[in-house]
Amino acid sequence: MSAQFTKPDIAESFSRAAGSYDSVAELQRRVGFNLLDRIDTEVNPSGVILDLGCGTGFFGPELHQRYGPHMLLSLDLAEGMLNYAREHRATAASQWLCGDAESLPLTDSSVDLIFSSLAIQWCENLPALFGEVARVLKPGGQFLFATLGPETLHELRSAWSAVDNYQHVNRFISLSTLKKEAGSHLMPGSLEQEYEVLRYQQVRELTHELKGLGAHNISAGRQSGLTGKARMMAFKEAYEAFRTEDGILPATYQVFYGKLIKE
Ligand SMILES: C[S@@+](CC[C@H](N)C(=O)[O-])C[C@H]1O[C@@H](n2cnc3c(N)ncnc32)[C@H](O)[C@@H]1O
Repeated sequence: MSAQFTKPDIAESFSRAAGSYDSVAELQRRVGFNLLDRIDTEVNPSGVILDLGCGTGFFGPELHQRYGPHMLLSLDLAEGMLNYAREHRATAASQWLCGDAESLPLTDSSVDLIFSSLAIQWCENLPALFGEVARVLKPGGQFLFATLGPETLHELRSAWSAVDNYQHVNRFISLSTLKKEAGSHLMPGSLEQEYEVLRYQQVRELTHELKGLGAHNISAGRQSGLTGKARMMAFKEAYEAFRTEDGILPATYQVFYGKLIKE
């Protein structure tokens, strides 16, 4: 994403969504499990694992059960998410940190594995993010992440562009930029992309889901006075252009899965 939101905006939006997130996070589950399956057990995940942007903490117990780390650090920018995670997803090894991935409250070379599913797309300063990841990883440690590419929600972006010039959908970083930024701090392991297409009967199901995730465009709230009924109708009509022959409305997610290694 390029400069779009302030950190307090992001934290507030996700904190507000903490109670609804799990009920609408089907794609996030799938992506997180895909990412878990990419963990390389050679990196000693039984040491210290950091779940970066842990959200409701769903993957904490999974990481604990699979790898038995002696410390599982769950970090998130949104205090509301962290409180929810602490209440529902604590493990015997859990420690909780409210903090920013671009400025990690951790000492140098202290983490064996960083797991981060669908969180770093909210980071605007990629040199700071990858610099921090490289600083806190132990030599040989790995950064495993899933993030979103620029084709994500292209249908939604296109439908809104037929209505107004506001940016209703977050902008995401391309694979080549990601490679370039990551490469200046960490050694490449792998970088792959997969597409996931979610299917809806009505466009409001999609917008409801995005709101429940806390991932609806935060800037849309700032323009609430402008989002009138007529504009919503025009938006819905424009989205109808994507309705397929079998009668569904698609929403595409371009997911990047990356593995980077600290030298
Ligand atoms: C889509 S949720 C993903 C949560 C979880 N990893 C999952 O897969 O269900 C994104 C999370 O990233 C957090 N986040 C956003 N920007 C962050 C940052 N700069 N540092 C740490 N966490 C951040 C949000 O607060 C939110 O909880």
